[in-house]
Amino acid sequence: MSFLADRLSRIKPSPTIAVTSKARALKAAGRDVIGLGAGEPDFDTPENIRAAGIRAIEGGQTRYTDVDGTPELKKAICAKFLRENGLTYTPDQVTVGVGGKQVLYNALMATLNAGDEVIIPAPYWVSYPDMVLLAEGTPVSVACPAENGFKLQPADLEAAITPKTKWLILNSPSNPTGAAYTADELKALGAVLLRHAHVYIMTDDMYEHLVYDDFKFTTIAQVVPELYDRTLTVNGVSKSYSMTGWRIGYAAGPKALIKAMGVIQSQSTSNPTSISQAAAVEALNGPQDFIKERAAVFQKRRDLVVSMLNQATGLHCPNPEGAFYVYPSCAGTIGKTAPTGKVIETDEDFASELLEAEGVAVVHGAAFGLSPFFRISYATSTDVLEEACTRIQRFCGSLK
Ligand SMILES: Cc1ncc(COP(=O)(O)O)c(C=O)c1O
Repeated sequence: MSFLADRLSRIKPSPTIAVTSKARALKAAGRDVIGLGAGEPDFDTPENIRAAGIRAIEGGQTRYTDVDGTPELKKAICAKFLRENGLTYTPDQVTVGVGGKQVLYNALMATLNAGDEVIIPAPYWVSYPDMVLLAEGTPVSVACPAENGFKLQPADLEAAITPKTKWLILNSPSNPTGAAYTADELKALGAVLLRHAHVYIMTDDMYEHLVYDDFKFTTIAQVVPELYDRTLTVNGVSKSYSMTGWRIGYAAGPKALIKAMGVIQSQSTSNPTSISQAAAVEALNGPQDFIKERAAVFQKRRDLVVSMLNQATGLHCPNPEGAFYVYPSCAGTIGKTAPTGKVIETDEDFASELLEAEGVAVVHGAAFGLSPFFRISYATSTDVLEEACTRIQRFCGSLK
């Protein structure tokens, strides 16, 4: 009999964290490795936000706070939703957790009974299915192929809904594809959801500010107000404000749900770090100009990566609307032989042979539920991206 709980056998460690660790280990062993696996901006947290954190320490904001967020931070979050999304929330509709990840986890833990279904459009962020499984729910993955821009189609949503469906998880812009839904696309999904009053919507808007080519970000509770009462709008400071290490995420939604999420949090972590909360207040209330400037840098990198990957034999790279990922197809490399003599049969083979041959670490598409693809994070400098894409081109050219 194992000492470890059965629930561990249901889930796997995050494959994206695994790739990052593997790249780090190879580097430490002296290999020349470029890691394109990590999902975090390479920019530093802006100076005014860092200073607010320091002020919080010096000013003695170092004690427990309210479990699900300080009044100041909840106020700043309400102001953000109104200002940027036209959504009106009161502080008792807002919860703050240790990153967007904890907020999503709390919501699932607070609502799922064994066998409850959660619809997850694939490709998906790696944590959604495993968090559902940890909460004893059943992930229902719905394929969103490249021909559909990796976006959920209303008819496919309709077909996936059963009496057991509790949530639909939407993520726009998406990790791993960068695809983002237009207001019209959200309305079309909303029309389906309006016919199924028992389905709640968890929208993960973490990459809201990283959209390109004048794409206009919208969120479902905003464009389909009839769904406001059953939507949990999740966001955070990690990606938009380059604050991944500070661990602050938040959500707004129905009061009863928000309260239940706070109960879960009260028996796990209690409040998120007091200092990080003070810094997040400054992030949300302070100057916002740098967000656009940084997004412009990301757009240039996206253009570079998409163009260079489309010149690699056997790859095809769609041009995504947002986030800092691309999700190219490696279908044209399947069946070919790598320099080691191994035949590439899957996207996992592609990723591991690429790492072996050229020292470029990417995450294979199977980890995100749609093959044969791989994910590149372009949240790194232009020089490094150029070198990485050159190596990928060389690797693809070497396949026989
Ligand atoms: C789609 C998506 N949601 C949520 C998160 C979690 O964000 P946080 O670092 O705030 O927990 C991530 C981070 O990679 C993400 O990509």
